[in-house]
Amino acid sequence: MPIPKAELHLHIEGTLEPELAFALAARNGVTLPYADTEALRKAYLFEDLQSFLNLYYELMAVLRTERDFEDLANAYLARAAAQGVRHAEIFFDPQAHIARGVDMGTVVEGLWRALGDSGTNHGISTRLIMCFLRDESADSAMETLEAAKPYLHRITGIGLDSAEVGHPPVKFREVYEAAAALGLRRVAHAGEEGPPAYITEALDVLGVERVDHGLRCVEDAELVARLVRDRIPLTLCPLSNVRLRAVDVLAEHPLPAMLDAGLLCTVNSDDPAYFGGYVGDNFDAVRSALGLSEDRLRELARNSFVASFLEDDEELRARYLAEVEAYEFS
Ligand code: ADE
Ligand code: ZN
Repeated sequence: MPIPKAELHLHIEGTLEPELAFALAARNGVTLPYADTEALRKAYLFEDLQSFLNLYYELMAVLRTERDFEDLANAYLARAAAQGVRHAEIFFDPQAHIARGVDMGTVVEGLWRALGDSGTNHGISTRLIMCFLRDESADSAMETLEAAKPYLHRITGIGLDSAEVGHPPVKFREVYEAAAALGLRRVAHAGEEGPPAYITEALDVLGVERVDHGLRCVEDAELVARLVRDRIPLTLCPLSNVRLRAVDVLAEHPLPAMLDAGLLCTVNSDDPAYFGGYVGDNFDAVRSALGLSEDRLRELARNSFVASFLEDDEELRARYLAEVEAYEFS
């Protein structure tokens, strides 16, 4: 049994496996520009974030009905449970669906058909985080927040994703202020491909409580000291970083140095269908490529629950943390 863990950086659309993509395409009468799953898998050679995003948005064409989103989420939860996930805070990208004529209600209620029963069906507690696409306008983000208002009882927080460079956090100041006023938690992707200054700006201008990726903080010693002092969690995604070429090879990933520096790091899968593994696979990969000790792996698992948005259920968090401490490595 893998160590119990929370997953805090997971795009539900990034869990769309080729087999499910073709099954949904057939169900919905959508034609994909790939002959079969094998041909599709051959397209999974990415040069950078944008080359991945092009395929990620293209394949979303198969997601049309509530049932599609329910099936997608259930498939993820089953795989996550098998890898020790006990709690998942799941991103979704409503603008990418609304642009195709699939409305907010279809996405949220479809996902909820799986998430509402995830504790019973998969042994996983869940939260939903709605992301804004940073390469779309600030007005579009504000319209998306407005469209989400009937569904806020299902949504814990907001995030910011898609193409990072050229789209600094400050562009979204107003929508983050509006979301905070609605009681939503705030995270943002920063420092994946973008500079460390984007991390600082996400903290100062957007008031984020957790930074997604944050990898490039290592280039700014003052920023690292601040992240350590303020216990700001980073949701790292090691296999994603290799596939999108943020690092050359896993053996050179700065995770060990980041832990040594006292950063509150977590390990996550990002878009597991595309990047070669779910969160347990990411744990296994860093364990072998970076030689992480059992103490370090336990620290990563502990951090995942500490960094989670379980302030609304501290009893549950305490139970998960106790499971981490009691875990015996085989
Ligand atoms: N959307 C899905 N995965 C992403 C990533 N790794 N970075 C930015 N946007 C994304
Ligand atoms: Zn991401």
